[in-house]
This record gives sequence, C-alpha cells and structure tokens, in this order.
Amino acid sequence: MSINDCKIIELPKIHDVRGNLTFIENSRHIPFDIQRAYYLYDVPGGAERGGHAHKGLHQLIIAMSGSFDVILNDGGGQTRFHLNRSYYGLYVCPMIWRELDNFSSGSVCMVLASNFYDEADYYRDYADFIKDVT
Ligand code: TYD
Repeated sequence: MSINDCKIIELPKIHDVRGNLTFIENSRHIPFDIQRAYYLYDVPGGAERGGHAHKGLHQLIIAMSGSFDVILNDGGGQTRFHLNRSYYGLYVCPMIWRELDNFSSGSVCMVLASNFYDEADYYRDYADFIKDVT
C-alpha cells in the first residue's frame, strides 16, 4: 500500500440553520469497519504527535475542531495534508508513517480505527519501518 491509497474523504453534511450534522457509517463512507475511536485534545502549541506506522490498522483522521497537518510517508515519498473541516476525513491505510503537527489552539483530532489498540501493530522506529516497507 502507498500514499496513493490514502485520500481525503468528504463525509455527508446535513446543512441546517440550527447547526450542521455529519455522520459516518461503517464501510459505506470509509473503507473499513470501526472498532475504536480516540481523540487528541489540549495539544500544546508546537507539539508533534504520531511518529509511527501501523502494520495492519486502517484509520480515518478528522479535525473535529480547529486545524492541524498530517504528514504521510510510505517510504517512497511524503505528502502533507492540512485538515481544518469536520466533514473531511483523511483515510490512512496500513504501512504509512505519519506525523501530526501545526495544531491550532483548541483543536481536536479524532481518529477512527479498524481495530483495538495493540502495541504489537506499531512501528515506532523509523529505520525498522523503512526496512520492511522498501
Ligand atoms: P500514540 O499512538 O503513540 O499517540 P500519537 O500517535 O497520538 O502520538 O499513543 C500514545 C500513548 O497512548 C501510548 O502509550 C499508547 C496509548 N494508547 C492507548 O492506550 N490506546 C489507544 O487507543 C491509543 C491510540 C494510544
């Protein structure tokens, strides 16, 4: 899998003067079943998150509030995505090294994931990841 398999997915948006509504359904809007959701918040200015890859996990990353950047790297090249709308999700396939930075103050990063948390699914060392991906 490569960066070309990762993409911004536009989610359904129900516009309403009372406030907008977005929803996400398994497999219908994203290419995996959701087993877990987690979110990053209270991220201090200048902080960086991520810095790892997953062996088998599929994820959708959404800026629920505010904005931040996600840098994806498949060992062959890297692409920076700026997320700043809660109706856009960035789909990240397995075997992609990711870094998150440029968090705006008060931003919330929600991640939907295809499996439970499993430390054995991580590459935390970039050299190990590059060895296996190239
Ligand atoms: P990590 O995935 O490294 O965070 P990030 O990618 O945002 O920088 O996780 C940070 C810590 O939180 C690490 O000790 C593992 C733990 N953690 C869980 O216990 N459950 C989870 O679902 C996640 C994502 C992390």
